[in-house]
Amino acid sequence: MSSEKPQAVLREDYCPPDYWIDSADLSFDLGEEETQVRARLEIFRREDLIGDSPPLILVGEELECLEVRLDGEVLPAHRYRVADDELRIDSPPERFQLETRVRIKPHENTALSGLYRTSGNFCTQCEAMGFRRITYFLDRPDVMARFSTTITADKASCPVMLSNGNRVEAEDLGGGRHRVRWEDPFPKPSYLFALVAGDLRAHRGSFKTSGGREVALEIWVEPQNIDKCEHALASLQRAMAWDERVFGLEYDLDIYMIVAVNDFNMGAMENKGLNVFNSKYVLALPSTATDADYEGIERVIGHEYFHNWTGNRVTCRDWFQLTLKEGLTVFRDQQFGADMSSAAVTRIEDVKILRAAQFAEDSGPMSHPIRPDSYISMDNFYTSTVYNKGAEVIRMYHTLLGAEGFRRGMDLYFERHDGAAVTCDDFRDAMATAGERDLSQFGRWYSQAGTPLVEAEGSFDSEAGCYSLTLKQSFPEPDQSATREIPRQALHIPVAMGLLNSSGEDLTVRLEGESAPGETQTRVLELTQSQQTFIFTGLSQAPIPSLLRGFSAPVRFKMERSREELAFLMGRDSDSFSRWDAGQQLALDLLLDLAKTSARGEAMALDPLYAEAFGRILADPSLDGSLKALALTLPSEKVLGQEMEVVDPDALFAAREFMRKALAQTHCDALREIYSRGVERAIDENEQDAIHQRRLKNCALAYWMTLGGEDALEAAATQLERAENMTDTEAALVVLADTVSEARDRGLSDCYDRWSEDPLLLDKWFAIQAGSRRPDTFERVLELADHPAFSLKNPNRMRSLVGTFCSANPVHFNRADGAGYRFLADMVIQLDSMNPQAAARMVSIFNPWRRFDSGRKALLKQEIERVGGQHGLSKDVFEIVTRALADQSD
Ligand code: PHE
Ligand code: ZN
Repeated sequence: MSSEKPQAVLREDYCPPDYWIDSADLSFDLGEEETQVRARLEIFRREDLIGDSPPLILVGEELECLEVRLDGEVLPAHRYRVADDELRIDSPPERFQLETRVRIKPHENTALSGLYRTSGNFCTQCEAMGFRRITYFLDRPDVMARFSTTITADKASCPVMLSNGNRVEAEDLGGGRHRVRWEDPFPKPSYLFALVAGDLRAHRGSFKTSGGREVALEIWVEPQNIDKCEHALASLQRAMAWDERVFGLEYDLDIYMIVAVNDFNMGAMENKGLNVFNSKYVLALPSTATDADYEGIERVIGHEYFHNWTGNRVTCRDWFQLTLKEGLTVFRDQQFGADMSSAAVTRIEDVKILRAAQFAEDSGPMSHPIRPDSYISMDNFYTSTVYNKGAEVIRMYHTLLGAEGFRRGMDLYFERHDGAAVTCDDFRDAMATAGERDLSQFGRWYSQAGTPLVEAEGSFDSEAGCYSLTLKQSFPEPDQSATREIPRQALHIPVAMGLLNSSGEDLTVRLEGESAPGETQTRVLELTQSQQTFIFTGLSQAPIPSLLRGFSAPVRFKMERSREELAFLMGRDSDSFSRWDAGQQLALDLLLDLAKTSARGEAMALDPLYAEAFGRILADPSLDGSLKALALTLPSEKVLGQEMEVVDPDALFAAREFMRKALAQTHCDALREIYSRGVERAIDENEQDAIHQRRLKNCALAYWMTLGGEDALEAAATQLERAENMTDTEAALVVLADTVSEARDRGLSDCYDRWSEDPLLLDKWFAIQAGSRRPDTFERVLELADHPAFSLKNPNRMRSLVGTFCSANPVHFNRADGAGYRFLADMVIQLDSMNPQAAARMVSIFNPWRRFDSGRKALLKQEIERVGGQHGLSKDVFEIVTRALADQSD
């Protein structure tokens, strides 16, 4: 990085490029110490520029330029300039071939962007701007070229050489070297380029598309992992079938490859025909992966596969449009997940993620619209807002247009834009046209940052039999997104709702003026003004409203309700999401009260109303084990903290621990009974049932453990010893890790011995300890940071310790003495010199710093400033830190 202040790129500055690239013929000569890349590019000038000859400026980073040729002739030094991360050629012809040769050093690439090495193999990561670290190029998504790739390497170290598209040639060169050539028939932006070479094995399968194409499926892994690929393969086959069934979308090449690598900054990457995955989202056996891991794999495999249409065939015009592909593809993977397992459980889990991560992001210094207006480093905008809130925005089209209207919109989107690089407005227009709806106001979801608040108030007129519901929308928090000061306007918000009678049955919902009897099922109100009243008629008794069913919009929702009413909905709402949500709201109210009590140093007491409702959930035969476990789990400290004026991590921890223990005391027998039933349950049942059962059993165990008895401790130790699957093993070790016991010490050391050869298991070993409630956790984390198996270089390992402790263990991370903050800053500073993207993600953990008390605020600020003051700071970390410290009007 140069010493000047990094500059922001603005969305409004978008211009098409002066030159386009038709085709890119790349040649890689892979060596131990260095790699040479030759790129032959067919370039032509933009039509409307004819007559004028602007310079051609290709970007390149960390490249050593060896030679430049134009139409076959070596360019003399005065005809081009290599400077400031670019290659510039003055007044080139209208159409020409440019050939460059560069040298790069993959083995020194610790940023894991561009061409790098992982476990000895070669691998690329080009999104968002990694391709420029491979060769000089117009590295922007609106430049779509046809790529071909020739790879030459040692046969011994690189028996396998892969790239996008079809393998068209292979040749033994003698002298221990060999060569292959790949051609991708589909034009694509450079961010979708991929190359992998090394010692890998394939787990193979196939898929026959509905159009009759036989597609070879290959999951490439290190040889020792070849037995851990079946679930990934089966997930891919399910995803391919699902996309045909639900969206009519077929795969378009004869081969689809997935490569699992150990060093990867993100979850996975959708490179055309050659996905590269974090091994965490590929490798699984019951003995190594939990039920949640299995589900994560299915979702991520689906996600990357779905990108083939939403991202690759139709891509983004510029990076500000990222949610065009990510929001849409997350929505698609959510629907896939819902269809593959339980729709209710999937929805609840997705909303939990949104509330814990996105709501927090949107009320802090990194708040931005799903389509941001500016960035310094694009890598900082692969955020929960762009992904998860973006998916909620897509879900709202689906809610407003209905499944069929949404499908027509998707069909039209592909009909109009297949093969092109487009914008979020193009997507919205396809939806509006196909759905015959005016979606101009809906467009504000793309431009306004922050979480809207929707408030509801109802009143019943018994004489008229009318219930009127008033909905208000507002933005209670100041707009923190840097570049906008325009007041935010009313959004178009779908509010799915129903009305219940006093026995919990759904009532007919008829709006004033409607003649036909309304539907009893959920219906969707459209809130488009800052305040609107809806009147429901034909009611003989005061209804109980069930609002924002299925979480129909990404808003905070408030309604004055009695605790009795929440408990009622928690037990009876016909919408599973709203049932769960009512329980969470109730628990949240109580926990916030308890936290206040605890902060005052007074004795806490459990509200019998919640204790009873909890008991009814335990006994409810209509709920599956997963829904039960979700309903029985109290809101996290992270979610609770968002509701506090000033976050008090100690009081929240104390309140939550108190309530867990009090609930366990009250329902001790039932919990123990559920636990033993879960243990006895035969394993020959169907897989979904087994998952529900394990989830409930392990939830019961966690409650039981809070009582601190020998019986529970012994049960956990026995479970750890006998478990035949990682779900049970991990659950037992997690609860043991909270205890001061011999069973805990033995458990951890046994697991270390058993797991030390498997990186993904070692990650669990670090994470479980980093997440422990034990009072000495911070001291243990410091020891673990010096453990020989710890490394900041490997993102998974780094996150398992640093990420878990600093973001999933609030009470210990937020120690009043600031040692947790100092630890995070130390880690970020070290990490930034190797991997800026990963460092920027870690430093974002500081973002909510203004929400703490003045003591913690001062300590936090000091550490953020210390990071910001580092010499040679990356622009990635610079951007996060600058935004975190920016002056605020309030
Ligand atoms: N595009 C990837 C996905 O969402 C995420 C990713 C971004 C991976 C940047 C690597 C680098 O599937
Ligand atoms: Zn994606």
